[in-house]
Amino acid sequence: MTSFAEAREPALTLDTDFVRSQFPAFREPSLAGWAFFENAGGSYMCQQVIDRLLTFYTQTKVQPYYPYPASTEAGKRMDESYRRIAAYLNIGEDELNFGPSTSQNVYVLAQALRPMWQDGDEIIVSCQNHEGNSGAWRRLETQGIVVRDWHIDEKTGRLAADDLDEMITARTRLITFPHASNVIAHINPVQEIVAKAHKADVIVAIDGVSYAPHGLPDIQELNADIYLFSLYKTWGPHLGAMFVKRALTSQMSNQSHYYNDDECHYRLTPAGPDHAQIAGAAGVADYLDVVYAHHFDDDPASAVKGRKLQQLFSDHETALLVPLLDFLNARSDVVIVGPDDPGIRASTVTILPLEKPVPAVAAELEKQKLMVASGDFDGIRQLNEMKINEDPGVIRMSFLHYTTRDEIDRLIRGLTIALK
Ligand SMILES: Cc1ncc(COP(=O)(O)O)c(C=O)c1O
Repeated sequence: MTSFAEAREPALTLDTDFVRSQFPAFREPSLAGWAFFENAGGSYMCQQVIDRLLTFYTQTKVQPYYPYPASTEAGKRMDESYRRIAAYLNIGEDELNFGPSTSQNVYVLAQALRPMWQDGDEIIVSCQNHEGNSGAWRRLETQGIVVRDWHIDEKTGRLAADDLDEMITARTRLITFPHASNVIAHINPVQEIVAKAHKADVIVAIDGVSYAPHGLPDIQELNADIYLFSLYKTWGPHLGAMFVKRALTSQMSNQSHYYNDDECHYRLTPAGPDHAQIAGAAGVADYLDVVYAHHFDDDPASAVKGRKLQQLFSDHETALLVPLLDFLNARSDVVIVGPDDPGIRASTVTILPLEKPVPAVAAELEKQKLMVASGDFDGIRQLNEMKINEDPGVIRMSFLHYTTRDEIDRLIRGLTIALK
């Protein structure tokens, strides 16, 4: 693992033409003319991942880790993904697990942690969570665990770290919350929350699904005990990536075959792993390497590259947020669900139209060839805490570093028509 204190680099402009050239979807004739604003649902996949999947399926689609060449190679390709993705996240490769999805990883975690706790022990579950990081924890109530709701502010949708001062008790065992919500998109003060939790010896499980697509985080720096995200939203294959601190993994109960107790990549992933998708995940690291090499002259450790790329992506996305949020702020017929300050949020912008039904606005946006989604986004609890009915819910426009200013302008023009 790398340890470093990197100063913020001077502003550098992201070359979006180059970045987009790495995604076949941007040259796909059937998608031509459409602008993609549903990235929080699932991103486009980069060429490097597609290449690795194709190579795996055509050359090494056999049971891995046997001595014959195709099998040895299959295992090597899978191992490479653990190594390369872990390096970008600044964690040990034995601390990285690839499961079928984040929801399923959370389900497994709840089962693996429960035996460490006594009846009457407490967990704090934020009401800003996607249901994928909520239901499985809440169901522990039927197994003797007390679940405490960490409520959000009714107006801003934000979580207040200070609430934890009252909520954490001697029985608290875990706090779970999103790095950034998939609806409200405020970036939570992870380090402050982790510090409060660790002071009380409480485990922190962070849902990074809506944050990681904006640049892979340095998990060591965050000091999370558990960090989860979904690679299919992070330009890659349909897998859930789950970091669990080495010392914690060994205390948790094995969820795999009994003889896998000592197998770091198996004990928390009871489903047989999807070999090809795991092998494909290294393509995300290939992609980041290529983007880094295009923008910077040096070749540092992946963790350093990841941090600088995260800044580059974030600067680009923040610059695009400004005109969109300004446009929305200036209107009286729409409410931004979440902060209107581009500096404290991810580029997932959720709105509630006040003068026109949500389905009508969504239908008009679609007519404008804008791929935008509406509904509750499995965030019913957060919407309800903000007094928003999940049916019909809200409109969500989510974009990533490969989005251009032109597309934002098209979105603004489309909204002008759709909200009328
Ligand atoms: C913030 C957040 N957490 C968790 C999930 C669940 O992820 P998965 O689809 O990998 O189960 C999602 C999915 O949209 C999400 O947006």
